[in-house]
Amino acid sequence: MATKQLSTKHLLGIKYITPADIDLIFETADQFKEVINRPIKKVPSLRDVTIANLFFENSTRTRISFELAERRLSADTINFSASSSSVSKGESLLDTVNNILSMKVDMVVMRHPAPGAHMYLSQRINACIINAGDGTHEHPTQALLDAYSIRERLGSVKGKKVVIVGDIKHSRVALSNIYCLLKLGAEVKLCGPPTLMPKHIESLGVQIEHNLRKALAWCDVANVLRIQLERQKTKYFPSLREYSMYYGLNRELLNTLPKPITILHPGPINRGVEITSDLADSEHAIILQQVENGVAIRMAALYLLADKRD
Ligand code: CP
Repeated sequence: MATKQLSTKHLLGIKYITPADIDLIFETADQFKEVINRPIKKVPSLRDVTIANLFFENSTRTRISFELAERRLSADTINFSASSSSVSKGESLLDTVNNILSMKVDMVVMRHPAPGAHMYLSQRINACIINAGDGTHEHPTQALLDAYSIRERLGSVKGKKVVIVGDIKHSRVALSNIYCLLKLGAEVKLCGPPTLMPKHIESLGVQIEHNLRKALAWCDVANVLRIQLERQKTKYFPSLREYSMYYGLNRELLNTLPKPITILHPGPINRGVEITSDLADSEHAIILQQVENGVAIRMAALYLLADKRD
């Protein structure tokens, strides 16, 4: 396994890691992908490590993927849901985490609705923190598995044209993808209604294209995002039906493009809104490969970060 090390002891966001860190995570994930396709899918690498999975927001893919990655590495794990904990009795985040850490926990995987919650904790506690999504801010392991899946499908990320379609304003997946893809040398366009585009986002080095057909005709890869109605406090478009007419992907639209494209979606999918059901299940989409790669990417991140513990 890797003799190189990450430049960081936490994974708070793609903004805070280097292109060399991303390459190292990918090279390590290649080896773990081979492991999880063996009849015995387990290695003893983290058998002396205890990891707490703290989920203050709902999750299917990320939570199960981290739990599986930890088990495949032989780590001891504890799982925490805010809804069944003493958070509902008014305990602070820092007190909750410090109580869990006093039980000799080494690493914390956390999803939290507050942007910056992980940065706040990393400045106050000793354990390694891994961001499994912080509000509308970052979702680093999702961006890593997305870029890894593009590399697997197209051979590399460098030089590829990627369009991120949909609710950019409320999406932590979009921001982490932008940082990750640009660090790996891809070109990035964003496509969606003007009301769902964050102000000054071009300053990150991306372009905006509001016409979906033009954006798809330009790209090699489209990463299609869900409309995050649960985070929208006001109406950003008249109806889901109208959103779907202008920004939904379907086969008829793909048939008008000059070349085939690869479609990603981080999930959960709202079939018939941002993408039609038949397209989501088609040969163009690598949605389930993304989920499979998520386990290898998270094994790689956990393994490399465990090596950075004090
Ligand atoms: N992609 C993603 O973060 O999915 P979950 O919310 O189900 O974890």
